[in-house]
Amino acid sequence: MYLPLFLLVSASVATGQLEICDQTPPQSRGTLPSTNKGMYELSIVKKGNDSEDIYIPGQTYVLVLKTNNKSRPFRWFMITVESPDAENTTYESSPTNVGSLKTLDSNRQSRYSERCFNSVESADYSDKDYIQIHWLSPAQQEKDQVVRFRATVAENKEAWYTGDKLEIVLHKDDSKPLDRFPYPLIDKCNLCSEARYELLFKGRWSRMSHPRHYPTKPDENGYSHMIGASHAVGYKLWHQGDKASDGLKLVAEKANISLIEREIIEAMQANSGTRTLIRGKKRHHPHMLEPSHSLFRVDRFHHLFSFVVAMKPSPDWFLGVSQFELCSDEGWLKEYEIPLYPWDAGTMDGISYESPPSLTSPGDVVKRVAVGSFDEESPFYQMSLIDLKAFAFMQVRRLAEYQLVGVNCTNDEDVPESNQEQQ
Ligand SMILES: *[C@@H]1O[C@H](CO)[C@@H](O)[C@H](O)[C@H]1NC(C)=O
Ligand SMILES: *[C@@H]1O[C@H](CO)[C@@H](O)[C@H](O)[C@H]1NC(C)=O
Ligand SMILES: *[C@@H]1O[C@H](CO)[C@@H](O)[C@H](O)[C@H]1NC(C)=O
Ligand SMILES: *[C@@H]1O[C@H](CO)[C@@H](O)[C@H](O)[C@H]1NC(C)=O
Ligand SMILES: *[C@@H]1O[C@H](CO)[C@@H](O)[C@H](O)[C@H]1NC(C)=O
Repeated sequence: MYLPLFLLVSASVATGQLEICDQTPPQSRGTLPSTNKGMYELSIVKKGNDSEDIYIPGQTYVLVLKTNNKSRPFRWFMITVESPDAENTTYESSPTNVGSLKTLDSNRQSRYSERCFNSVESADYSDKDYIQIHWLSPAQQEKDQVVRFRATVAENKEAWYTGDKLEIVLHKDDSKPLDRFPYPLIDKCNLCSEARYELLFKGRWSRMSHPRHYPTKPDENGYSHMIGASHAVGYKLWHQGDKASDGLKLVAEKANISLIEREIIEAMQANSGTRTLIRGKKRHHPHMLEPSHSLFRVDRFHHLFSFVVAMKPSPDWFLGVSQFELCSDEGWLKEYEIPLYPWDAGTMDGISYESPPSLTSPGDVVKRVAVGSFDEESPFYQMSLIDLKAFAFMQVRRLAEYQLVGVNCTNDEDVPESNQEQQ
């Protein structure tokens, strides 16, 4: 599990003080900065097809600070990541999430700045011609789209530089994530019909597609049963940022669905909670590419579905969807397929499939397994989301639609008659 470094805003900050970081070198003796003329350069290492000024959310990047003339090394530096309008932002405004910088353990030449937030500075005054640090970009749901990296380099006690190639501005990649749902979640579904769906879970976890740290005993690999439900808006089987239920914990850690199945059945209600139990076969090596399958029904109260499939071995990782909306003004969704990437139930520590199990205390929330992790033990070490192959595909397909007869659909008390799906 990866813990991002977020420096908390200290409470003792004077009101009205500007958020912008003063990067004046401590040794500068009051000299003014010179404008860097291409000698020193800050750059970001791009992977695959990323265009120059775009970043992908929740991704690790490598920042490089270097001199372009080996006979002009630098002795001190500072790198800050900030909002481009930091000049005009005071501490009273809500802090902007600009991701986090991370020094590399192998590189003792940099340390976190005590002077500024989100800043890394030189740990000594020796000659340097190349410095590397990491940046973890802000998560997908953060609103702020733009970040700026700003570096200062001191050649000696008199000459120090800012500007020109020491600044980078990046915009968030706005393209649609591959696993985004087709319809937004709606509070009230106005369709006066029910629909029957088929759900397929098509596993794709293999040594070919996911070679890094692939389990040493593949004969023991497997997916748990597919388990979930069609449900109403107020019901959550699991959700990013929430603590896992006992049922989810047991599936994610032990591939045991008994508890989560009971949670789903106990939540069955005529016009709230859950409606149909989704349950598909478990798939074990060497049959992991064979799909798991289930049928379920939806109505105007229960127009969402959620499910999980645990991955074995793993500390507490699972695949699945949460609150997938099937209702829209145009009718019930016809057919859709999305790739699935692993989630971390937040109940066990461990950064790779076969990490020795240990309890996460005090218990973390459900989140994405850290892709682009800084940890070499991770299967996703420094990996770009673009390069990450799907661990499975989920396909949902409408088989039939039933118009409701003799039911007043504008009246929320009128409940459909057949409320159990025959599997
Ligand atoms: C790079 O982008 C181009 C155009 O956007 C696309 O045609 C190409 O397949 C991409 N290459 C890779 C390796 O993603
Ligand atoms: C590199 O710096 C040295 C020392 O200041 C200078 O003599 C040389 O011309 C510079 N080289 C380039 C390519 O700018
Ligand atoms: C900050 O405010 C000044 C004065 O109001 C304005 O000229 C400048 O463009 C602003 N800068 C940014 C980055 O918004
Ligand atoms: C699943 O968990 C339940 C509740 O803890 C337990 O009673 C049951 O024996 C477990 N099943 C398996 C196959 O381990
Ligand atoms: C349906 O129910 C609503 C609200 O109870 C009521 O106002 C409406 O007259 C009913 N329509 C029919 C056709 O029964």
